[in-house]
Amino acid sequence: MAVRPKWTDFPTSNVRRYLEPGPIVLVSSAHEGRTNIMTMGWHTVMEFTPSLVGCVISSANHSHKMIRRSGQCVINLPTTKLTDVVVGVGNTTGAEIDKFAHFGLTAVAAERVSAPLIAECHAAFECRLHDDALVDKYDFFVFEVVKAHVAATPKHPETLHYTGGGVFVVSGKIISRRLMFRPGML
Ligand SMILES: Cc1cc2nc3c(=O)[nH]c(=O)nc-3n(C[C@H](O)[C@H](O)[C@H](O)COP(=O)(O)O)c2cc1C
Repeated sequence: MAVRPKWTDFPTSNVRRYLEPGPIVLVSSAHEGRTNIMTMGWHTVMEFTPSLVGCVISSANHSHKMIRRSGQCVINLPTTKLTDVVVGVGNTTGAEIDKFAHFGLTAVAAERVSAPLIAECHAAFECRLHDDALVDKYDFFVFEVVKAHVAATPKHPETLHYTGGGVFVVSGKIISRRLMFRPGML
């Protein structure tokens, strides 16, 4: 049997240190001729078909208004090569600067939405707002991924996972337990 770790009390307001899953993403948007990008860690897969992703986008962010009004965004997956960009994008606002120009990122036209893809990212998922019922109460947007663009390699990109306090964990060793899964669970 596994050895039981010794637990101590922990502040409930800091459980993000353990629960925030990442990977950190860059959310790009477009509205009334302007583009923007924000950094986001609070997202969750909700359904496979249709492909639904829930995201907390604070109403304090410029992106909130742009995404709510346009009803669209792109969820882009950066790797550790973009760590400083991820931090910079998450500490500046599109209300004041053009983040594509400021951070030297390349906007590429998407196929199904008006928000741009970020060319430097490993993957980019075009999203349409599927349900805004929880936006007013929790800033929680439910998006449907309507088109996905993914680099063929590496198969397991080195992604960033935020733990708060300016600290990230980087994805690492790959382990498989495929043979232990019921087919329906794969
Ligand atoms: C690592 C990291 C993760 C973040 N995750 C979120 C998030 O999940 N939701 C959110 O609303 N803001 C999040 N932020 C904050 C926004 O990215 C930040 O407020 C940004 O300046 C918003 O830009 P905007 O005003 O141009 O939209 C995060 C920031 C960092 C650095």
